Amino acid sequence: MKYAVLADKQVRSIGDEIAKKYGAPLILFEGGEKNKTREQKALLEDALFLKGLSRQSTLIVVGGGVTTDIGGFIAATFCRGIPWICVPTSLLAMVDASIGGKTGVDTPFGKNLIGAFHPPEQIIINLEFLRALPKKEIRNGLVEMIKHGLIRSREHFDLIRTHLDDLFEIKPILAKAIEQSIAIKQKVVDEDQREQGISRHLLNFGHTVGHAIETESDYKISHGEAVGIGILAEIKLAGQDYPEVNDLFKKLDIQIPKLNHEKLWQIMLADKKTKEGVPQMVKLKQIGEAESFLVPIDFESFKKI
Ligand SMILES: NC(=O)c1ccc[n+]([C@@H]2O[C@H](COP(=O)([O-])OP(=O)(O)OC[C@H]3O[C@@H](n4cnc5c(N)ncnc54)[C@H](O)[C@@H]3O)[C@@H](O)[C@H]2O)c1
Ligand SMILES: [Zn+2]
Repeated sequence: MKYAVLADKQVRSIGDEIAKKYGAPLILFEGGEKNKTREQKALLEDALFLKGLSRQSTLIVVGGGVTTDIGGFIAATFCRGIPWICVPTSLLAMVDASIGGKTGVDTPFGKNLIGAFHPPEQIIINLEFLRALPKKEIRNGLVEMIKHGLIRSREHFDLIRTHLDDLFEIKPILAKAIEQSIAIKQKVVDEDQREQGISRHLLNFGHTVGHAIETESDYKISHGEAVGIGILAEIKLAGQDYPEVNDLFKKLDIQIPKLNHEKLWQIMLADKKTKEGVPQMVKLKQIGEAESFLVPIDFESFKKI
């Protein structure tokens, strides 16, 4: 068996089409963050063995970031590692999850704690895949794209700001925006392949507060929404004010829910970026450029904000 296709059930039709093209069997994955687990990985691996996948095979993974994370991780360990082709079908997976080689699953001890660096051989992106994606999911992807602009490229930020409606409508300009976002993430990752230096931390802009919000809401607030709120909060925590950023997020219509700052702080203390009991965040120098080091978050300011 040369190829097998592993696809999120939600995008079965895309998986079907690719499976036919490659003459490969199709294995469906339930999808959803709650299924990004070691248990699901084992079940999917068994299904792949039953379909005849071997160490000479290539796995084609079709879906959003949940699917590409677990599928890429299956490829990383299947018969000690086989190549895989990544076919992201959500905007977030196109610009973020499929870039950088990180794969993995969640555990009761935290998200993405078991995994491997195993970049795909190829990433196949087709804007048509996004037509059926709910607008809320488009927004989640746009938040990470805005983050890419804020940390590395004023031009990219401006492109998103001035074409927001067209991007939502999946007009051709979205292809350019996706390319630019991928280029930014890839460049940051290339500077810091295994997350040992500082560079890759820049991708965590908005995520210190964002992750805490996502966790505290028990994932009812999506990652994109939480990071959007996190970006606004972290700009304020740095004592800065960028009206263009505020306006852009207003247009995205991200609602800020009631949150318990004590609980958020506790979660932030457990963040891997926390140093000597003080949570750390990324700070912008200006739109398009981030500081190359982490700055501490002050509890009193955090409470106010
Ligand atoms: N590996 C990395 O570097 C990295 C980076 C960022 C995020 N991630 C991971 O990515 C995940 C989030 O990714 P996501 O937002 O794509 O989540 P997801 O895979 O859950 O997709 C979001 C929703 O959209 C659906 N969907 C996907 N494509 C669709 C399409 N074309 N049409 C209709 N529905 C579609 C999915 O079934 C799901 O309901 C998280 O688990 C996160 O940890 C990984
Ligand atoms: Zn993110």
